[in-house]
Amino acid sequence: MDRKQAIRTIKERLNIADIVRRYVELKRNGPRWTAPCPFHQETKPSFSVNEEEGMFYCFGCQASGDVFDFYARINGLEFREALEQLAAEAGVTLDSRNGGRDAGQARRERGVRQQMLRMYELAASHFAQNLTEDCGGECRDYIERRGLSPAIVERFGLGWARREWSALSAVLHRAGFDQRMAVEAGLLGRSDRSGRAYDRFRGRMIFPIRNLSNQIIAFGGRIIADEDEAKYINSADSPIYKKGDQLYGLAQARRGISARGCALLTEGYMDVLTLHQYGYDHAVGVLGTALTPEQIKRLSGFTSSLILLFDGDRAGRKAALRSSEMLLTRGLGCRVVLMPEGEDIDSLLRTAGPEAFEELQRRAPDGLEFCVHVLRELAPREGVEWARNFLTKVEVPELFSPYASRLSQHLGLSEAVLRQGVAELKERSKTNAGQTLLSARARTNMRDREILMYAVRYPHRLEDLRQCGADMVLTSAIARALWEKLEEYGPEEAVYHLDEREKAFWTKCRAGEAPPRDSGDRELDALVKSLDKFYSVSQTSSLLAALRENARSGDFNAERDYLRALQENWERRNGQS
Ligand code: CTP
Ligand code: MN
Repeated sequence: MDRKQAIRTIKERLNIADIVRRYVELKRNGPRWTAPCPFHQETKPSFSVNEEEGMFYCFGCQASGDVFDFYARINGLEFREALEQLAAEAGVTLDSRNGGRDAGQARRERGVRQQMLRMYELAASHFAQNLTEDCGGECRDYIERRGLSPAIVERFGLGWARREWSALSAVLHRAGFDQRMAVEAGLLGRSDRSGRAYDRFRGRMIFPIRNLSNQIIAFGGRIIADEDEAKYINSADSPIYKKGDQLYGLAQARRGISARGCALLTEGYMDVLTLHQYGYDHAVGVLGTALTPEQIKRLSGFTSSLILLFDGDRAGRKAALRSSEMLLTRGLGCRVVLMPEGEDIDSLLRTAGPEAFEELQRRAPDGLEFCVHVLRELAPREGVEWARNFLTKVEVPELFSPYASRLSQHLGLSEAVLRQGVAELKERSKTNAGQTLLSARARTNMRDREILMYAVRYPHRLEDLRQCGADMVLTSAIARALWEKLEEYGPEEAVYHLDEREKAFWTKCRAGEAPPRDSGDRELDALVKSLDKFYSVSQTSSLLAALRENARSGDFNAERDYLRALQENWERRNGQS
């Protein structure tokens, strides 16, 4: 059956309400079924299913679609996978030959993916086998030293990559796999000089990464002794794997997450394993990147409530801030647990035990509270600006009011003032009032530029910028990305990791010269002053707007508040406090 016809037939045979009912409790409401939305946090039912149309829709978070969209989203699958699984359920055979003009191309791609999946499967069983043989003795010792139980080794399919250069490549060759494809899949590397292929993972403990269809799509590999090499290497992106799309352990944790209605999000491979070993079977790992929108989408099918585990240091808190921001604006709820200095959850569980972790979880602040708190600590002047920016990004309309009200309380600012600033931000970015006044968006972009110009010219002074909280308020994605690279790779290395746009900016800042040798004190001074001015100007303008607005309603108390805030602002700008 061709694809179009298959989709139609599946929709005829499977009732969308029956599928949805497996995951959420539906209540009859006239011609529709309703429930609390499974894709965002809420208690009142804004999620509804229309059997006749075969559609679902959420008034809260705007998720919508047909039975395939629902099934894919709730199971964290791609459309293609959802189609395959529902086809099987409906007894429909998908025709792989007949699908339009690009059928040949599509078939080839499917073929490549299937081959790669089989290679990974074979590689994983090769690695697991190694672990049981003589050659795997050193890795078994390591596993024992780290305290991993045999059950965990089994459940996560851990393995050992031999120290030889062509153990895996021989196995793949014997099984008849194409060497070029194995290189493309990231299992083998190729020497630039000799052109020969070799095993990429050597002398490493192997962590297989599975997708939600339980297929192995990538590996992480850890050195197990004091070796002068990267602690971890990971599969590169390939036709079957995209870094940032997956979560480590989700295949193993999905049931735990559904059962508990909540997921634990942590950083590392070891953290996930140890959490599971201690019974926290709802733990997943972000795999060494910042949390991404794709990962959130994958998770949101299983739960809309997360507990984030992060390092307690500055970088950890900043990452926690970004992650919370992303989750909250998308309608998911989170709480944040910060690890004590120098610990990760793996070491904490093993030294202080689960009681200590339970205590940390009990004390964990809610995501929004955490954000305000961290800003107060790390960038005290940025709170209001951050809050307004946050509110403009809220994707779930019904959450806007509760967020605005809680933020205004936390910030000690009247809600009207906060909202007014947001309305202005939105308005200005919409109408682009760039001719006379700089739009709010353009102004924040200018500020981003100023900060980054300084950072690029004086990369050894990142710490000073951090001190005044400059990095916390970068708003544009490009500015944030460039900053991250400066931080991650350092002043010397960073330039090798820039994309075209970033490189152009970099070159402009450096004007083709080496970075200046002077300390940049005067410029930093100027930058800080300009940032100060930026805040007071943006606050003044929104206070004035609020005042104007208020004049119509004639609320004298509010008027007094605004005037006082204006006064304070003015004093601050003139250096009187
Ligand atoms: N990571 C990576 N590449 C590196 C270092 C780290 O991909 N060179 C990722 C891995 O997913 C790793 C996570 O970042 O699990 C956290 O790194 P780290 O804290 O250094 O390692 P742990 O997971 O704590 O591992 P271990 O306890 O064995 O040191
Ligand atoms: Mn660790």
